[in-house]
Amino acid sequence: MKKRVIIDCDPGIDDSLALMMALSSDAIDVIGITIVCGNSPIDMGFENAKKILHHMGRLDIPIYKGADRPLAKEYVNALDTHGEDGLGESFLEEIAGYDTHEQAVSFLARILHQGPCSVIALGPLTNFAQLIQEDEKAFDAIERLVSMGGTYRSHGNCSPVAEYNYWEDPEAAEIVYRHMEQTGKQIEMVGLDVTRQIVLTPDLLSYIERLDERQGAFIRKITKFYFDFHWSQEHLIGCVINDPLAVAYFLDPAVCAGFSSHVDLVTDGPARGQTIVDAFDFYHRSHNAYVLTKCDPLAFFQMFLALILHKEKESLDLLENLIGDRKGIS
Ligand code: BDR
Ligand code: CA
Repeated sequence: MKKRVIIDCDPGIDDSLALMMALSSDAIDVIGITIVCGNSPIDMGFENAKKILHHMGRLDIPIYKGADRPLAKEYVNALDTHGEDGLGESFLEEIAGYDTHEQAVSFLARILHQGPCSVIALGPLTNFAQLIQEDEKAFDAIERLVSMGGTYRSHGNCSPVAEYNYWEDPEAAEIVYRHMEQTGKQIEMVGLDVTRQIVLTPDLLSYIERLDERQGAFIRKITKFYFDFHWSQEHLIGCVINDPLAVAYFLDPAVCAGFSSHVDLVTDGPARGQTIVDAFDFYHRSHNAYVLTKCDPLAFFQMFLALILHKEKESLDLLENLIGDRKGIS
C-alpha cells in the first residue's frame, strides 16, 4: 500500500521541485499540502503551491494555509533568494479556486487521528509546534517526520551558524525537537551538510531539457533567479536544491547516511537557529534526531530525474558523467 504523506512547505523554488518530485512518485500518496510562511508570505506560498499542482495536473490535492508568522520572532521572508513572486520571478499564471476554510493545523490533526501518515517538512516548523501545543496526540501519531533544516558541521546559509528554516522560527524548531526528546522519538534532520551536495548545474539542466522539453523549460524558468542568486552569493555556477533531498531520503533512506544524536536549538543571540548536535554524547540526553551527514548526489539525481521525467533510472546513462565526483559545496 502507498504511504500516506503530508508535505508542509513554503514554496519557494526548491520546495516546488520537491513537490514535483513527490507528486511523481508511485510509492507515496500525497494526501495534502500545508503551507507555512517562510521563503514566501503565506498567501504567496499558497498561490505558488497551486501553480505547481496545476503544472503537475494534480489540482485534486488539497492545500491548507498554516502559520502566517513565526511563533515569537518577527517574520522575515526569503524573497531575496526566491524572487519577488517566490518562484524565481517566473510570474506563472495565477490559478483560481480552492477552499481555504480549514487551517493547516486542523487538517493535520484530523488526518493524523485517522491513521498512519508521515510528514515531509520543507519550511520552518511553525505548524508542527502549533500542532504540539493544540493537539499533542495528533503530533505523536506522525509516522515519520523528515525535516529539511539545521546543520551539523557545515556553515549556515543565513548566518554563520544557522540554516534558514530553523533560523526563521527557532522557537518552533525548539518545541518540536524538545518534544521528540520527551517522547523518545527522532526527527530526521536533512540539514545543509547533505543538501549542499545537491547542486543543479547548467549541464544537468540542459540534460533535463534534452530529455523533456516541457519539464526542462519549466525548471529553467523557475530556477533562473536561483542560479543568479547562487552566483552572486556563493560564487557557484548552479543552485543548491535543498528540499528535494528530503523527499528523496523519505522515499529511499539509502540515498543518505547519518547518526542518531541529541540536538538542541538556539533561539536567541548571534547563534539564533543553530542546531547544536551532541555527536559525542556530552549531555547523555535522549537522541531526538537522526542527523544526516552523507549523501550520494548521483543516486539523488537518478531518482529526481527518473521521477520528474518518468524515465527508467537505467536510461539516464549520461548522468554519471554529468555528476562526476562532484560533492557540491561545503
Ligand atoms: C531552506 O530554506 C529555504 O530557502 C529552502 O526552501 C529550504 O527549505 C534551505 O535553508
Ligand atoms: Ca523550503
